[in-house]
Amino acid sequence: MALVISTVNMKGGVGKTTLTVNLATCLAKYHQKRVLVLDLDAQISATLSLMSPHEFAQTRKKRKTLSYLIDNIIQPNPHSKLDVFDIICPAVCDIEGLELLPGDIELYDEYLVSEMLHKEAQLNEGINFESVWNKFESVLIKKILDPVMDEYDFVIMDCAPGYNLLTRSAIAASNFYLLPARPEPLSIVGIQLLERRIAKLKESHKNSEYPLKINLVGVIFIMSGGGLLSRYYNQVMRRVKEDFQPHQLFNNNIPMDVNVAKAVDSFMPVVSAMPNSQGSKAFLKFAEEFLQKVALYV
Ligand SMILES: Nc1ncnc2c1ncn2[C@@H]1O[C@H](COP(=O)(O)OP(=O)(O)OP(=O)(O)O)[C@@H](O)[C@H]1O
Ligand SMILES: [Mg+2]
Repeated sequence: MALVISTVNMKGGVGKTTLTVNLATCLAKYHQKRVLVLDLDAQISATLSLMSPHEFAQTRKKRKTLSYLIDNIIQPNPHSKLDVFDIICPAVCDIEGLELLPGDIELYDEYLVSEMLHKEAQLNEGINFESVWNKFESVLIKKILDPVMDEYDFVIMDCAPGYNLLTRSAIAASNFYLLPARPEPLSIVGIQLLERRIAKLKESHKNSEYPLKINLVGVIFIMSGGGLLSRYYNQVMRRVKEDFQPHQLFNNNIPMDVNVAKAVDSFMPVVSAMPNSQGSKAFLKFAEEFLQKVALYV
């Protein structure tokens, strides 16, 4: 069974996607793991980090994206022709073991979801809308992953910033979450908000059919700058260290390296495009530390 990981932070632009695709690539390419990347963000950044826009356009034309699977759960269609195996792209970036369930710019229609859940609540007397919604949220991503769980060692999900339905559903389906952050006050607020939300979500699902089993793998800092800025970052990181146990923090930080950002132009993560760059070396060390942290569970 795959170990399911969500990459989350309420704050945008902190490196969630970059971390997701580089970790997945390191695990497949350098550790021979079978890894599935799931793009849960309508910005489709993870998808476009692993395939070209042209390839994505063709994939989308054939409806081979996550949105097809979500639609099928919201409004099951007995005539639907595609299943999750048809939609997953194998050996992306020519890396054996690295697979992608492509995202979409339109993932689901909130109105349709609410309407469907309202109808369900009306049909089931004694069950209120909130419980129907909670149940839907807790099983949506699980239902998508269920058929492929035995195919992978790791499933890594790239969540959108904020805290939307798919992020909550990903959290409900995950064994662990990764928390990338910049050592800046607002990013730290993002960590605290998320921690509080996850605790609340655990509480609200405590007595449900599917209690949450998610735990933090660790906070990983994505750094930038040097000199005075580094001194300031160290101060902020010290503050974070007071709030977490040592095992909840990664020792390896990811430095800012222009090659990391530039790699997107070659439609592959930096660890594959420029493996000798400073950024790649940091991601490789991070992947090793990640494997040590989850070793007990794989
Ligand atoms: N270590 C790094 N060095 C240089 N640039 C980086 C690094 N990590 C991320 N970036 C760049 O920073 C930007 C934001 O990163 P990324 O898209 O991974 O963040 P995100 O948290 O997924 O954003 P969003 O919240 O919008 O989904 C991107 O342009 C990315 O290429
Ligand atoms: Mg992102």
